[in-house]
Amino acid sequence: MTSVLFVCLGNICRSPMAEAVFRHYVEKANLSDQIHIDSAGTGDWHVGKIPHRGTRSKLDEKGISYEGIRARQVVYEDLQKYDYVIGMDDDNIQALRSLAGKSGANIYRFIDFVPSSGYNEVPDPWYTGNFDETYRLIDAGCRNLLKEIIKKT
Ligand code: 4NP
Repeated sequence: MTSVLFVCLGNICRSPMAEAVFRHYVEKANLSDQIHIDSAGTGDWHVGKIPHRGTRSKLDEKGISYEGIRARQVVYEDLQKYDYVIGMDDDNIQALRSLAGKSGANIYRFIDFVPSSGYNEVPDPWYTGNFDETYRLIDAGCRNLLKEIIKKT
């Protein structure tokens, strides 16, 4: 079993989008029983909420389910448990490293799964309003992440 946790700030725009898209590809590859997927936010403002309207409408357009996804805050135990803890921007990575402390964690930058994207971080559509741009990066990164996990296992 490989486990993947996507992390952003609010857990209503980027990381639930990645959770839904990645789950979609994992299901298509018939690997649902081998890869555990979740998402969380470093902040607690939106705990319990469904994904943002912009994320939902993008996923609806692509025919990708987000059923059951609710915002939650990342906790220390997540960092001990997950094989891949994947942050969307540098603030997320910094918050995760600080939460992990000396015990460390398997922390990755999502954008590193999108080589030659020209981006250093996954832009936050909460601020940019551009859910298309964020979706394109998340879709590409999720495909590459799945390829990497398949290669490694
Ligand atoms: P996310 O976007 O981190 O991609 O879910 C945000 C959602 C909410 C806020 C900031 C970013 N907020 O400040 O409430």
